[in-house]
Amino acid sequence: MLKDIITMGIETSCDETSIAIVKNGREVLTNRISSQIDLHKKFGGVVPEVASRKHIETIDYILDDALNEANLELNDIDNIAVTYGPGLVGALLVGLSYAKALSFAICKPLIGVNHIEGHICANYIEYKSLEPPFVCLIASGGHSHLVYIKDYGEYEILGRTRDDAAGEAFDKISRAMKLGYPGGPIIDDLAKRGNENAIDFPRSYLEKDSFDFSFSGLKSAVLNYLNSKEQKNEEVIVEDVAASFQRAVVDVLVDKTIRLANVKNSKIIAIAGGVASNSGLRNLMKEKAKEHKIDVKYPSKILCTDNAAMIACAGYYNYMNGKFSDLSLNAVPNLKL
Ligand code: KG4
Ligand code: ZN
Repeated sequence: MLKDIITMGIETSCDETSIAIVKNGREVLTNRISSQIDLHKKFGGVVPEVASRKHIETIDYILDDALNEANLELNDIDNIAVTYGPGLVGALLVGLSYAKALSFAICKPLIGVNHIEGHICANYIEYKSLEPPFVCLIASGGHSHLVYIKDYGEYEILGRTRDDAAGEAFDKISRAMKLGYPGGPIIDDLAKRGNENAIDFPRSYLEKDSFDFSFSGLKSAVLNYLNSKEQKNEEVIVEDVAASFQRAVVDVLVDKTIRLANVKNSKIIAIAGGVASNSGLRNLMKEKAKEHKIDVKYPSKILCTDNAAMIACAGYYNYMNGKFSDLSLNAVPNLKL
């Protein structure tokens, strides 16, 4: 019988301090997450220096919690996977330095993980039998990517955002309407009570065959709408703005993803990243995919947003592919997939 491989994942790229322990890539023994959202809320977004400091204060406790919950000791860990980019440099450095120190102390391999790859891998944890190839839409606060997953660790990137990421658009619109941070879940909630056909916001499809995204035009259209309402002293129905804006984002995400699945002849679409927990996106993707007999996968909400279980899973596949890092590994804030 093969020996189990126990991977520790460490994630500090933005405003979540998280440590997970995962067995054989997909079985989560613990996934401890400490979110800093409440700390950043009053600033309307993540303050990088505050984030780094909070990671430093928190990470020791998270490690203790994780080992206790998994009922393991440091020496039971076979390898340590850590996010080294993309993300906020100071925040990344906290997790990376911590992972290096642990790897050195227990003499176990260090594995650098690309955060975006981690988001994709959240689907492997959710669906134990999911195997490549498949099409994946990654939509988070910092990234919007359309990717064909050829094999573990083998990606063909077909689309990226040319300006704002999908989650960023949600956050900016929420801020403009003074609704709070992060905007995604707030707008998602309001949209359920609004009319998505109330306002005809633009959908940007770019060139005919393009799989890239652009949300800045939509963002400006919503801001213009809000300004003109204010100037005319007219009431804004926030539920309708939320629903119409969300539908405009989701229409483009769904159309392009289904088109790519058809081009690649893929019968599986996975979605990942914070925006993958959006109910409008999940519902429309399932509805449209059904017409093409395509199966839609998405991780549970806790695995959509930043967490270390997805990093451990990605690290496990890197490890199996012989991709290790050494102690010279540095943080790469703009790391590409
Ligand atoms: O993946 P994530 O935790 O962090 C990044 O890697 O960026 O994603 C956070 C983003 C935020 O922009 C947040 O507003 C968005 O995901 N988000 C949502 C929802 N939940 C989180 N966007 C739309 N609908 C949601 N339900
Ligand atoms: Zn993320």
